[in-house]
Amino acid sequence: MKHAQYIRYFAVFVFSCVVLYFIIPSSNNVSSVDQEAAYASRLTKYSALRTCQLNGPTTNAKEFAENYQSCIEKHLPKTNFEYFNMGRFHEKKVFLPLVKESSAAQNCNFLTIGIGGDVLVETEFKLAHPECKIFGVEASPDQVAGFEEFGTVIPYGVGVKNETINLVLRKAGKYVHKDVEVVAMQNLLDRYLGTRFVHYATIDIEGAEYAILKALLSGNALYNEGIVVCQIDAELHGFNADGSNIIDLMKAYAVETSQYIPVANSPFLTHQKVTFVNVENERCREAFNLDTIGI
Ligand SMILES: *[C@@H]1O[C@H](CO)[C@@H](O)[C@H](O)[C@H]1NC(C)=O
Repeated sequence: MKHAQYIRYFAVFVFSCVVLYFIIPSSNNVSSVDQEAAYASRLTKYSALRTCQLNGPTTNAKEFAENYQSCIEKHLPKTNFEYFNMGRFHEKKVFLPLVKESSAAQNCNFLTIGIGGDVLVETEFKLAHPECKIFGVEASPDQVAGFEEFGTVIPYGVGVKNETINLVLRKAGKYVHKDVEVVAMQNLLDRYLGTRFVHYATIDIEGAEYAILKALLSGNALYNEGIVVCQIDAELHGFNADGSNIIDLMKAYAVETSQYIPVANSPFLTHQKVTFVNVENERCREAFNLDTIGI
């Protein structure tokens, strides 16, 4: 080969490299621009939802909640939910469905906080998701109700830290106040679940939910312990006349610093049921297909 030919090959090679250099990164840039646009549009959606919810009427919990739900209908896309039925008063647990084939759904778990003498939800959940593990926290031994058939009983009260608190417990169909030693949630998760990552949680503990739910929010005690809960179906108990504790909690989950957005809300007796979805954690987003749903 002649010298000039080498130079030509070399020139073609250099030219190809230059072309590839511009093509390859530019296609990456496009996808990251797409991702940024999707992220920005998500934030706009959340922000409209949060503003709408936070500015609802605060005269009582019922009116506040009605507005809260209508904001969801106005600002979030219509989605399919999974429902699990409770025995009592047609109560339902409401969740976004798990994407079973997703790697984020591996080792999926369902945590019931407060078994409360009823295992119908867990029966239905086990049928829908036999691959997931079920755990139930219950401080009152007579409220375990055959839960062992579906999952693991965690025979403690759960708290933000180890302490003794006055809990309302169901006992033989009645509610009684009792001082109970509770164990910090991260310790119970480590010991029984072996992980601080929870796909599904439901909480119904007669007023003790407020402290736990607040502590799970970004920057608070349980969040700082590395606990991640993807979805929480919560029963917020209305034990004061104006329902201010319900309103405060619903607001706390709707503010901008919250890693959750509320996706479903309905009244239940004097209480409010709300499903909160963690929209920040990437594994949660993947496990419940939030990108595809448009949440
Ligand atoms: C709570 O108590 C348990 C058992 O005594 C202990 O292992 C754990 O470290 C305590 N947790 C906290 C947060 O103090």
